[in-house]
Amino acid sequence: MKLNIALLPGDGVGPEVIQQAAKTLDAIAEKYKHTFVYKYANIGAIAIEETGNPLPETTLKTCADADAILFGAIGELKYDNDPNAQVRPEQGLLELRKSLGLFANIRPLTTYDALIDQSNLKAHVIKDVDFVIYRELTSGIYFGDKELSENGNEATDTCKYTIDEIDRIAHLAFKSALIRRKKLTLVDKSNILETSRLWRKRVIEVSKNYPTVNLDFLLVDNAAMQLILNPKQFDVILTENMFGDILSDEASVISGSIGLLASASIGANNAMFEPVHGSYPEAKGKNIANPLAAVLSAAMLLDHFELHEEADAIRAAVEKSIELNITTPDLNSTNHFSTTNVGNFLSDFILDDENTFYNKNNIDLGQSTII
Ligand code: IPM
Ligand code: MN
Repeated sequence: MKLNIALLPGDGVGPEVIQQAAKTLDAIAEKYKHTFVYKYANIGAIAIEETGNPLPETTLKTCADADAILFGAIGELKYDNDPNAQVRPEQGLLELRKSLGLFANIRPLTTYDALIDQSNLKAHVIKDVDFVIYRELTSGIYFGDKELSENGNEATDTCKYTIDEIDRIAHLAFKSALIRRKKLTLVDKSNILETSRLWRKRVIEVSKNYPTVNLDFLLVDNAAMQLILNPKQFDVILTENMFGDILSDEASVISGSIGLLASASIGANNAMFEPVHGSYPEAKGKNIANPLAAVLSAAMLLDHFELHEEADAIRAAVEKSIELNITTPDLNSTNHFSTTNVGNFLSDFILDDENTFYNKNNIDLGQSTII
């Protein structure tokens, strides 16, 4: 298969993790005889520096024309520390999601046996946890009207949803539940918010098309607690934009690191794949960022094109790296490997048909990991 992939490294550690994801995709292309053609484009702070615009026209066109987009990260301390900045890197990502209509952000959460005992949470609580968050991505408070009064003493963000926006992602979430454990939890704040009450009404309506799926509801404050108390209860979580943003960072603690969480942002005509983590500016250029979230996002990209065997090959390599402790400092504080080392291991593992011997010492030297 030939795929044109737009690569958007973005800011902070984005370029470092995208490099490893591309390396992993190259190994897949070689092994399974595919052709992946990459086109790089700028977004975020780096694009502001070059053009004054966090989403230049050319980047949007590259993305719209591509079969799929692989995105790194966005954001820089300079802007985080300046609430008066008029142009912000994050606007580039939001505009891209909106322009391409990427309304459904799918964030799977799994656990790895090799990491269970390292977690801040108890092993029996997190073992075998496996759920997916469907986060609405192009509406809600992120995109509603914003205002700062002239005297600067008052600010407003509006949360708005239409029934079409709710229905289309609800259908996707129910379809996912059908092929999983047939449970869907709607997370909202319907005791307070009108938008949440609309979500409940519509999701109950949509659920009539999926009678075998067991639907339940959780208020977002309770959901935040349940995620830590008893995450095994979840199968598919459906929620609005900002609740999904917050809960997915919280959920990453179950996996072991936010550096492990991948996502797919899906629309009617385009699809983008993005790690859940941010730009981690403190780590920029240090070769310590965990590339696995970007690599697993590349696996989701392959799944999107029904290349399931290829996607599984990436996931098997990731599992092996975790099992062998060939991981970055977020997962491995004592004997860690660099971002590049991990990427090299993954691509070597994918290309090694024998899958037998690994020489960890060689990884440190940047040599082949296989004897
Ligand atoms: C995410 C990020 C983004 C978001 C930021 C960088 C705009 O936190 O993808 O979760 O809030 O959606
Ligand atoms: Mn986030």
